[in-house]
Amino acid sequence: MNAMQEASALKQRLTKGAIRIDDVVKTYDPDGAAVMAVDHCSLDIAAGEICMIVGPSGCGKTTLLNAIAGFHSITSGAIYLDGEMLCGPGKPMAEPSSERIVVFQNGALFPWKTNLENVAFGPMMQGKLSKKQAHEKARAMMADAGLSGTEHNFPGEVSSGLRRRVEIVRALMNDPKVLLFDEPYRALDSLTKSVMHEALLEIYYKNNVTIFFITHDLEEAIFLGHKLVIMTTRPCRPKKILTVDIPHPRDYGVLTSRRFRELMEETSEAVHEEARKAFAAGEKEG
Ligand SMILES: Nc1ncnc2c1ncn2[C@@H]1O[C@H](COP(=O)(O)OP(=O)(O)OP(=O)(O)O)[C@@H](O)[C@H]1O
Ligand SMILES: [Mg+2]
Repeated sequence: MNAMQEASALKQRLTKGAIRIDDVVKTYDPDGAAVMAVDHCSLDIAAGEICMIVGPSGCGKTTLLNAIAGFHSITSGAIYLDGEMLCGPGKPMAEPSSERIVVFQNGALFPWKTNLENVAFGPMMQGKLSKKQAHEKARAMMADAGLSGTEHNFPGEVSSGLRRRVEIVRALMNDPKVLLFDEPYRALDSLTKSVMHEALLEIYYKNNVTIFFITHDLEEAIFLGHKLVIMTTRPCRPKKILTVDIPHPRDYGVLTSRRFRELMEETSEAVHEEARKAFAAGEKEG
């Protein structure tokens, strides 16, 4: 382990944000037509871990994310954060909280506020920080994320890559334990994606929150994740859970490494098998 990896490992041990998903079932019941989206799903995510969720369209990934965020109830089972029950028996729905933030990438910034004002907005509105404190913290966090010099620009005046950094930093201003991403880079070409990935990791290495990240892109999942969870077709549950044994910090050189290719080979069959099942079952293209 080099010094940077050691520092990162140490930070990781100190970080909070361990998630336990325990035997969760979610059945939607619109008009009495029950749709089971999550089927006895159990999954442990360590504090500071980047957990990547891959699975066919419509299998139930977003349903799970919404349950963690507190946007939707679960039918049975329980979800814990650092041992504390978020939802479970007697409490079907978690309360949304700034300790678990969904990072909406692309379009979630106020266009009429500067980047600095956008980043400072949350804790100021919640009365957690004064304007002065919020602006100081925002400036420091923006500098850390390579956003110095863009504080007084409006979101529309900077590149989309920088805008997405602003969105992540805005979420981090609340000192969350967990960041939740739902296919944030799905519409991007692979070159732009690679820039986004390196930016995300760069920010992550300085903050070490727990990341729950949904994607359809296996390469993205292996590149970013400590852990890769391949979900079954709907109703989802983990089909395969894999530790990505490529050391962090990572950069794009990893993509051409032998281990990376082996992991792609080890996992792509499982992903395709589920995708075929989903297709046969008539789930729509995502
Ligand atoms: N509010 C809802 N009411 C009824 N059914 C729903 C609701 N939300 C989702 N579903 C159904 O639950 C299943 C899982 O949906 P979900 O959005 O969790 O899948 P997903 O894995 O995120 O899919 P995608 O990859 O397309 O984003 C789907 O069959 C979907 O139609
Ligand atoms: Mg989804």
